[in-house]
Amino acid sequence: MIQLFKPFFGKEELEALREPFEAGWIGLGPKTAKFEKKFAEFIGVKYAVGVNSCTAALDLALKLLEIRHGDEVIVPTMTFVSTAHVVAYNLATPIFADVDEKTLAIDLEDVKRKITLRTKAIIPVHYSGRPCDMDALKKIVSNKIAIIEDAAHACGAEYKGKKCGSLSDIGCFSFHAVKNLAMGDGGALTLNNKEMYERAKRMRWLGIDRGTWDRTKVDKSYWWEYLVDEIGLKCHMNDIQATIGLVQLKKLESMNKRRREIVKMYNEGLKNIDWIETPPEDTNNYKSSWHIYCIKVSGVDRNDLSAYLEKNGIWTGVHYKPIHMYPCYGNKPSLPVAERVFKKILSLPMHPGISDNDVKRIIETIKRFQ
Ligand SMILES: Cc1ncc(COP(=O)(O)O)c(C=O)c1O
Repeated sequence: MIQLFKPFFGKEELEALREPFEAGWIGLGPKTAKFEKKFAEFIGVKYAVGVNSCTAALDLALKLLEIRHGDEVIVPTMTFVSTAHVVAYNLATPIFADVDEKTLAIDLEDVKRKITLRTKAIIPVHYSGRPCDMDALKKIVSNKIAIIEDAAHACGAEYKGKKCGSLSDIGCFSFHAVKNLAMGDGGALTLNNKEMYERAKRMRWLGIDRGTWDRTKVDKSYWWEYLVDEIGLKCHMNDIQATIGLVQLKKLESMNKRRREIVKMYNEGLKNIDWIETPPEDTNNYKSSWHIYCIKVSGVDRNDLSAYLEKNGIWTGVHYKPIHMYPCYGNKPSLPVAERVFKKILSLPMHPGISDNDVKRIIETIKRFQ
């Protein structure tokens, strides 16, 4: 069985976990602080704040930007439900935008049409790990509208030489079990604004001004007192997650390199199949982190292909059913490109543990379909 996604763990992660276990500190503490420092350096921003998911990071980002009832936030429909749910959590209204047929990124012409006086933010998703055209997006939005990158797929991706997560007001990452950098569950906000950074650190732990670790001066002293000025969430990262994350961060570039090798093999092997369109390739300006390898099929039934591959021991997925089509968002046809392209898309197995032989097997099996 070749899995669609799989984390790439080795002895290093297990070995590293000894330290927090033996030290007896597995909650929010020094490993989280170290991960935040290293991750901010890697992304090229001043600050990172570790949380327990990208959903929490997006939710916090909206809170930091004071998005509330009556406000509108534009999101692409071709995304995971978190991107819109967080808008609803904050009692604001998600406004769904269509996607570009080729890249499946948010369609900037549709964004233009959907901006109103109530628009307070836009959440572009770096779909599959391929950066959105952030310069073009910034040109069409006034600086009264905040931009939050949903970089859940884009850990290590680069746009014009800069890392995704450093290209807007706030970047939001996922370190969920099968993401490029995996911790089981986890997430981070990346940002340059000091005030927002300090507030995010409080807000991820119930609004408490100093975490338990911050009140502990490494075996020297401890004082119980803290302040709570506003009501925050309970969504901080812990030191078990951060310990795994520190090891994964060291391996990230090599894991992403392996993803690019797999992409090359797929592109080469699938290029002569006339009913398959492979995803857009990397260029100097767009370096994907290749979290997802999504093909489009025409003239064949996507679900039949998926079931056929499953029977042959190859798991595939669909990213995504346009989320405006779920009952909770009204399920009214309104975004023609996403609705059309959804029927054609199929994600093939993509993770650093896939061998060259696995890729060959996948390609040969696809060739025998029909
Ligand atoms: C585009 C996108 N945004 C947000 C999320 C939410 O991430 P998490 O599971 O870490 O909350 C995901 C998760 O898969 C995602 O794919």
